Amino acid sequence: MLNTSGLSLANTPPYSVPLGFFLMAPLFALVAGVLLMTAPEYALTSRWTPTVLATTHLLVLGFITSIMCGSLLQILPVLIGTRRVVTARTAGTMVVMLGGGTALLSAGLLLTHGPLSWVGAALCVGMLLAFAFEVIRALAASSGLRRIRWSVALAVFALIVTVFMGAMLIGSRSGWPASGVDKSWTDVHLAWGLAGWMGLLLIGVAGELLPMFYLSPPPAQWLMRALPWAITGLLLSLSWMAWIGEAVALPVVLPIGLLLSFGGFAIAGFVSQLKRRRPRRDPTLGFWWLGQASILLAAVAWLMQAPVVLTGVLLIVGAGMSFTCGTLFKIVPFLSWYHLQATKVKRRRTDVKLPTMQGFIGDTVAHWQLAIHTAATALLAIGAWLHAPTVWTGGLLLAGSALLLWYALLHAAWRYRRVARTLTRAA
Ligand code: HEM
Repeated sequence: MLNTSGLSLANTPPYSVPLGFFLMAPLFALVAGVLLMTAPEYALTSRWTPTVLATTHLLVLGFITSIMCGSLLQILPVLIGTRRVVTARTAGTMVVMLGGGTALLSAGLLLTHGPLSWVGAALCVGMLLAFAFEVIRALAASSGLRRIRWSVALAVFALIVTVFMGAMLIGSRSGWPASGVDKSWTDVHLAWGLAGWMGLLLIGVAGELLPMFYLSPPPAQWLMRALPWAITGLLLSLSWMAWIGEAVALPVVLPIGLLLSFGGFAIAGFVSQLKRRRPRRDPTLGFWWLGQASILLAAVAWLMQAPVVLTGVLLIVGAGMSFTCGTLFKIVPFLSWYHLQATKVKRRRTDVKLPTMQGFIGDTVAHWQLAIHTAATALLAIGAWLHAPTVWTGGLLLAGSALLLWYALLHAAWRYRRVARTLTRAA
């Protein structure tokens, strides 16, 4: 059960708004896993292989960003008290644009096919800028929860920079000198994407979600307030250095700054979970621990100058995917139960018994998904680090864990629809 005392649940958007994004995401992780299986011997040998570039965007845009967008559209009204950010119809259009754009962009990167990447990038840029605009508009019109509002605003600002630079990089790959960027800007693009958009949003919501999920004390407030500004300041100074051609500083300043910021956050989060008042070890805790450990391992790998692809696997598969999976296994059962409970009360259907949260997604499937995802992360990390023949199995397990997650989400949606039909049918 979640501690919902601080939430304004009356603002909850329709069930389909976040669920559309959630149900689409596992498909991209499934395709990414299969893609890694198609060229295991060279897939993770260099950060510049078309397979790595395509897999990266299937995961960061198709899986992680999709779940983050769905979660934000759900969290903003109930946690910060904003108005509903978008209608169900607009959310549906956004899902189609992000899904179609990511598929085309990744295909374009895989096949180094200019027109495919342009159309894909245009759809992704269009959807993400519209999303960012709606979120900032809702934040500007609200007055709740000042501490999280700034983290979300800075994360969305980072998304705008990431997307803008992604579009410029597509231009430079197609030989457009006017784009004014070259390969050295890829590091700045990925820093804004991984540390800015993903990292800042994680820091912003974790301070609220951890106490809600596990009755743990919130991580130190001064840290949660200072970190978003420190990280944004770091990203701005790095972009400035790249702009004035001091890109040489990048490999030094970046890891140290991020190591301290995210390493500190990972440890603070872990410590606060150890102090939780709910001793039960539910599987979603395992996802947070895997994510926190992956952040620390990525920082160590970066300091040891291990292959960049290893750091990428740890940050994207180990951290980004784990935190989003852990959040999904908590949010989806709660949302399914909450919407049915609201309908039951509204229709006074005391005769209909609602499933418990376990009835939507059980611990067993979550435990299995955690185990398979952890094995996939380990095998892909070993493959990236030692060029060992573990990439094929790692890809298979990544696809398998995506399928299991998809099954769990579809089961929750199916259960919800069945009970909702009973509730709306005449008694
Ligand atoms: C509209 C959205 C986006 C577009 C058009 C885009 C485009 C690109 C392009 C063209 C590259 C390769 C650059 C090169 O060949 O040097 C690239 C690299 C990369 N992008 Fe994106 N990107 C987008 C969004 C994102 C997001 C949201 C993230 C992270 C959250 C991200 C993370 C990365 C990473 C990690 C790399 C480096 C891959 C490597 O070095 O192997 N991208 N992006």
